[in-house]
Amino acid sequence: MKILVTGGTGYIGSHTVVELQHAGFEVVIVDNLSNSSADITDAIEEITGKKPVLEVFDLIDKKKTSDFFNRHNDVKGVIHFAAKKAVGESVEKPLLYYSNNIESLVNVMEGMIQNNVKHFVFSSSCTVYGQPDKLPVSETAPIKKAESPYGNTKQIAEEILIDTAKIAAIKVIALRYFNPIGAHESALIGELPIGIPDNLLPYVTQTALGIREKLSVFGDDYNTPDGTAIRDYIHVVDLAKAHVIAIERMIENKMKKNFEVFNLGTGNGYSVLEVINSFEKVSGLKLNYQIVHRREGDVEQVWADPSFSNIELGWKAEKGIDEMTESAWKWEQAYRNKIKDKR
Ligand code: NAD
Ligand code: WQD
Repeated sequence: MKILVTGGTGYIGSHTVVELQHAGFEVVIVDNLSNSSADITDAIEEITGKKPVLEVFDLIDKKKTSDFFNRHNDVKGVIHFAAKKAVGESVEKPLLYYSNNIESLVNVMEGMIQNNVKHFVFSSSCTVYGQPDKLPVSETAPIKKAESPYGNTKQIAEEILIDTAKIAAIKVIALRYFNPIGAHESALIGELPIGIPDNLLPYVTQTALGIREKLSVFGDDYNTPDGTAIRDYIHVVDLAKAHVIAIERMIENKMKKNFEVFNLGTGNGYSVLEVINSFEKVSGLKLNYQIVHRREGDVEQVWADPSFSNIELGWKAEKGIDEMTESAWKWEQAYRNKIKDKR
């Protein structure tokens, strides 16, 4: 059964392609390579023994997207990862984010409707909850006004999907990810931020290798046990597996409504200092870091109530924080060695 994975050479997409192939799905990737590279398909082949087909084009190109669906009229479902995701950049360039993330979604939905493709899995985010009034946060929590254009694209996208699922024969599962970190155990694929990382874990691993001088911990005056902010970090492979379950749920007609939404988190919150401690434990290194002022727009603490996903999807995150930091560290070292060898 053929599944289109948009953004499939990216961080979460590549891990999901691996799990889809392990589960027996045929995968075709569409990616414009704006934040990834084509050789990820070689790494996927090394892991699974099968190289996924990759078509390189921009999904904001309506004609190319429509042509794609016409050529691949045996696609049974779509997992839509393709999006820009840098919160800070989205504040600087809002129209780039609205255009890229929303137009691409609309084009993909139109291509699906034209070609009678009925199953759609969407990458949403815990960012839609902002700072929740109640923790842990469940799917029924109110959606807060978005803190950034990026966050707003996720809220708007969910609304577009709700409206479309009402009128078209398309079923939608929106997966709200908490904080994905870590890498595949093979260390052949992982997170590859371009330039200076925004996210905590890549900053930690790059600092440990001396690529960055020092990690800045953004604030130790939060109302949390050690004063640093708390997040629900989830291993990217656990996250990837949930996508396979979601697509199977649709294909096997197990959905209870045409639009369903699930939290993908572990249910455990870790502070920034706890993540650093875990990293220091698994790497045996002392990390160079300093406490600085809070980062604007950061919420104090958020972690998931994953019980609905656990029960309804029969999915549960299995990997703990040390497996997350260890796999991220293994990947960072393997990747840096690989690019050194290439020079
Ligand atoms: P990523 O940047 O590694 O992957 C996204 C991929 O989409 C990239 O390969 C990029 O080249 C491609 N892409 C972007 N715009 C495109 C377009 N117009 N046409 C074709 N390809 C395009 O990001 P990721 O971390 O793997 O995130 C995947 C999805 O999950 C995104 O939708 C993101 O918003 C969402 N998400 C990510 C996180 C996170 O912390 N990583 C958390 C919540 C939600
Ligand atoms: C985690 C914690 C920082 C870097 C972002 C997006 C969110 C979602 C996931 C897509 C925070 C602290 C970080 C650093 C630090 N993405 N930190 N020093 O902000 O929770 O979520 O990614 O949907 O929308 O906003 O993740 O990894 O940036 O930060 O102290 O150099 O680490 O303050 O408490 P965040 P993050």
